[in-house]
Amino acid sequence: MIPVSRPYLPDRKKLDAYLDGIYERNRLSNNGPLVQELTHRLEEFLGVEHLLLVGSGTLALQVAYRALGVSGNAGPPQANAITTPLTFVATASSLKWEGVEPVFGDVDGETWCLDPVSIAPRVTRDTPAVVPVHLFGNACDVEAIEQVAREHGLRVIYDGAHAFGVRYRGASLLSWGDAAAISFHATKAFHTVEGGAIVFRHKADLERARELINFGQSGPDRISAVGVNAKMSEFHAAMGLCVLDELEECLKPRREAWHAYETALRDCACMQRRQTGVENNSYVYFPVAFEDEPQMHFIRGTLEKANIQARRYFFPALDRVPELNTSRPFSERAGDLASRMLCLSMGSGAADTQRVLETLREVLVGSGGRRGSRQGTGELPGTTDPASQADGVP
Ligand SMILES: Cc1ncc(COP(=O)(O)O)c(C=O)c1O
Repeated sequence: MIPVSRPYLPDRKKLDAYLDGIYERNRLSNNGPLVQELTHRLEEFLGVEHLLLVGSGTLALQVAYRALGVSGNAGPPQANAITTPLTFVATASSLKWEGVEPVFGDVDGETWCLDPVSIAPRVTRDTPAVVPVHLFGNACDVEAIEQVAREHGLRVIYDGAHAFGVRYRGASLLSWGDAAAISFHATKAFHTVEGGAIVFRHKADLERARELINFGQSGPDRISAVGVNAKMSEFHAAMGLCVLDELEECLKPRREAWHAYETALRDCACMQRRQTGVENNSYVYFPVAFEDEPQMHFIRGTLEKANIQARRYFFPALDRVPELNTSRPFSERAGDLASRMLCLSMGSGAADTQRVLETLREVLVGSGGRRGSRQGTGELPGTTDPASQADGVP
């Protein structure tokens, strides 16, 4: 089976050298030297300050909310935060876990990120924050979100789980907002097996979070907050250091797959439009929205029969999940996109990418020429195969 994503395993000898160091020092956790080294190297690589490593991307979100005072645990009235329904469940479940009610806005129909226009109408006096997601590594409309947040006194916590290394107008996309949470799960290009980080705008917030991830302890004999254990271990940091050393090898097949899909599907308006000002990509996902849900199922089924995995990232739209939203009306654009979107296989090499594209072409021709999106021409441009160019499909 061609997997939708293949975790990157770095050179074993290099990893062993880091592990030897851990054995020699006998220091396994609690902000050890490898965690410190990875912190500095990531700050340098990403071009950010105030980065804190944690145990997962989900914990990064939870700790960021707490550090910025976004918590429902202080009792009524019930705090809420505005977020997008088109995302992984952790964006909203982490809010709920912290006692904060997620309130779902809608997405922009082209960038597929939270539409800033949908924020203000949902703000109440119990809304301390907005949690937009840089979906699939695309940038949210960060300027418009900042403006609306300023007008309504909201904290902005970006879910940047997909945005590792993405640059926006000459700087890291992760430097926007009061905080940005990143995931280093094994499915991501840069990973620490399990892990994550928070990039804070202000040092004071970083320092508060540093205590929160260590049980709320501010010194050997001092407990100054109700905290949690969200620390990254030395073993996870060792994997991160190895992957960072080999990031180019890890990104290369993903980048090639991304560009091959992009070229083959370019004129089909069923792809996410990159936000103006975004300079690169994290190359973790390649999402495509098909004509409608039946066509998406047909395509997924045919890919599966050809031993090719494609995943429904992200379905269902979270406002349809009763555990996360009991009463509010559904967001139309997010629901529509979630119903017909698939992510294609990334990073298993050029031959696999070509096989995905060839199967897609057969499927799209076989489904009676119903191709592409509602808005677009539906024509998929040809590849190097002259026969397929004549067809106008890859
Ligand atoms: C948008 C988004 N937010 C949060 C997370 C949670 O990250 P983790 O799996 O590291 O906890 C993910 C995981 O992929 C994600 O896609």
